[in-house]
Amino acid sequence: MFKLTDNRMIVPNMHLLTLEAPEVARQMQPGQFVIVRADDGGERIPLSIADWDAEEGTVTVIVMNIGSTTDNLASLEVGVSVPTVVGPLGNPTEIEKFGTVLCLGGCYGIGSIFPIARALKEKGNKVITVIEARSSYLLFWEDKLKEVSDELIRITRDGTKGHKGHVGRLTEIIKSSEEPVDRIIVNGCTFLLKRGSDISRPLEIKTIVSLNPIMIDGTGMCGVCRVTVGKSTKFACVHGPDFDGHEVDWMELLQRRKTYMREEVIPLRTSRCEEHRVKL
Ligand code: FES
Repeated sequence: MFKLTDNRMIVPNMHLLTLEAPEVARQMQPGQFVIVRADDGGERIPLSIADWDAEEGTVTVIVMNIGSTTDNLASLEVGVSVPTVVGPLGNPTEIEKFGTVLCLGGCYGIGSIFPIARALKEKGNKVITVIEARSSYLLFWEDKLKEVSDELIRITRDGTKGHKGHVGRLTEIIKSSEEPVDRIIVNGCTFLLKRGSDISRPLEIKTIVSLNPIMIDGTGMCGVCRVTVGKSTKFACVHGPDFDGHEVDWMELLQRRKTYMREEVIPLRTSRCEEHRVKL
């Protein structure tokens, strides 16, 4: 069993959870993930790691509450234990001295890009971190990210902080950089990963995305996390989760991610209204 030592909503709908998992924390590296179950009958869901403390033996994840499983996790009280925290899973993000690296994070990816930016900075890269959200009140960990970045840039759709607009503003951010950007790393929702890759393709900048398909075992056994990259079939849990964003079959991934939409999202939206649920 793995004790929950922290659980708080850091911005609307986004929860920070810290779990005691000493063996996992001891081996964790940037870009890896864990598979967690909220209770014995719960689904196994992959969560990108946002931070860890090897001495304390804890791992921290940022969970966006979008379905019944994430809602169960977000509702847990500090002090309870969860039955499953498996990890570290997946390959670590490649950390080398690339030159100038742009780290792009949105949603929960604002959290999971943090250890990647920190490791890249420690390796001697110039790190430009770009975070995006609908509005400034949905941004988080700005101070933490500032500490590990040479530059922190915000994009908000309503213009309440930083550049006004969508991730499409990335083109001008890249073009206005003092030094040419040598690599882009994107963490967040599938839409952000795809848009980031679409933008960098004509600029010919290598772009690494952390894919987030549905997973079950996380060890290459079930095949549920199948993705197509460069026309070959890959299992995101063991071959990834990082892949070249210019080679991913995005339409297939977006389609496969919808598989359990009905089971996950409808119960969450109707859980307090049984009558309405019957009509659905
Ligand atoms: Fe089962 Fe990847 S999650 S093969």
